[in-house]
Amino acid sequence: MRHSVLVARAAFPDLVDRLRAHFDVETNDDDRVFTPDELSRRLQGKQGAITTGSERIDAAVLDANPQLRAVCNMAVGYNNFDVAACTARGVLCTNTPDVLTETTADFGFALMMAAARRLTESEHFLRAGRWTKWSYDLLAGQDVHGSTLAILGMGRIGKAIARRGHHGFGMQVIYHNRSHLPAEEEAAVGARWVDKTTLLRDADHLVIVVPYSAESHHLIGAAELASMKPTATLTNIARGGVVDDAALAEALAARRIAAAGLDVFEGEPTVHPDLLALDNVVLTPHIASASIATRRAMFGLAVDNLLAALGCGPNAGRPPTPINPEVLAAAR
Ligand code: DGY
Repeated sequence: MRHSVLVARAAFPDLVDRLRAHFDVETNDDDRVFTPDELSRRLQGKQGAITTGSERIDAAVLDANPQLRAVCNMAVGYNNFDVAACTARGVLCTNTPDVLTETTADFGFALMMAAARRLTESEHFLRAGRWTKWSYDLLAGQDVHGSTLAILGMGRIGKAIARRGHHGFGMQVIYHNRSHLPAEEEAAVGARWVDKTTLLRDADHLVIVVPYSAESHHLIGAAELASMKPTATLTNIARGGVVDDAALAEALAARRIAAAGLDVFEGEPTVHPDLLALDNVVLTPHIASASIATRRAMFGLAVDNLLAALGCGPNAGRPPTPINPEVLAAAR
């Protein structure tokens, strides 16, 4: 039987053609973000889907679509999936780890540097015609080289950022994570585990790369921000909701910390209005993985996963990056 699949958002047409060779494919060339009801309707009769973080796959969607076999996210994060509900219904979930690690780490580092060195604020100042003379403290920010890089969460992207800080910028790298890295991995990226209190207290530049979950909701709020140095910066490339954006806006406005770099937001694409009003925060629209090569690699991996999950292609039955591989084991 020829399967039907949904590509829930616009994507690289030549890579979508790889799906068309095997499946009937419905696309969303207008790139509208479907409401949950519309997503459910579009999934009718589909065995598989490629999704992004914008499409929530939960029990309601699954119950409306009992024929669904696989949902393949074009993202490493998968907090848009109710994985337990998928697993209970035998629906395979996949994501796109590894292919975006270095690109995302590059961007995290850039955002951290932009916040520390007041890059966008400087550009706005210049474009507004306010640059009339050189001054000793004009738009002076915080040094990055030789400072303390504090990483919250230490998965692949955390390690890639640590490597950049340690080897490229001579930073002292500290991290906090549920688990400690093996000693040789810590040595390779020059990182030392510390408790969360120490992490926040000693951070010159805090970079957040922890996945979003109920446990990480508002991991950084008013109390945590109050424990940081007034010269510190905070960069969030993880997910909105890990940081309490209202509390962050308040801390930035009161200069309780110096600056922030944010690529992700609570309730995005809406951004907290108090953040929009501040000049000491660099704001970008969730683009940390957005190089052309990496976005192609992410979509290509999602395609590989969907083909394999529905029994096609060279990896038939063996999707490269399953989130709930127990579904595959149960199907054997
Ligand atoms: C991810 O991969 O989780 C990103 O946030 C989506 O670009």
